[in-house]
Amino acid sequence: MNAQVETLLKEQVNKEFYSAYLYLAIANYYHSKNLNGFGHWFEVQAREEQEHAMKILKYLQDNGVMVKLEAIAAPEAEFSDTRTPLLAALGHEQYVTGLIHAIYKQARDSDDFRACQFLEWFIAEQGEEEKSTSDLIAKFDMLGGDAKGLYLLNAELNNRE
Ligand code: FEO
Repeated sequence: MNAQVETLLKEQVNKEFYSAYLYLAIANYYHSKNLNGFGHWFEVQAREEQEHAMKILKYLQDNGVMVKLEAIAAPEAEFSDTRTPLLAALGHEQYVTGLIHAIYKQARDSDDFRACQFLEWFIAEQGEEEKSTSDLIAKFDMLGGDAKGLYLLNAELNNRE
């Protein structure tokens, strides 16, 4: 494996676990506001982020790379209102998309074709995650303006599997 790709993938393991941690912090915030459906939505998101981290870890293991696990940074936990965490989540997904693209570019530029193929799944996944978070913001903006709309959206989000 290309050494720079290896370094970036190792760092990405930590960043995916950080993403899980950030979404758990957001879930905690929503539970504290009695918006348990939003909390559930972000707990599912956090689980997916852990799966991303494990997927990269497994790829590195399968390619003979030993990964030293680093400390996970503490995420933001206070938000000014119930819309702000949604914007934070979208901003974070866009940031992660940039990271994945940078790793892909490094893999492509160094002819690491196996890494390119591995990363294609993540490129598609980032597109889906940006869309699902944008969709959630759009729904919030349509429904979240009054208590009844927010209640209905919260109930809908509880159904996410
Ligand atoms: Fe694994 Fe949502 O980035």
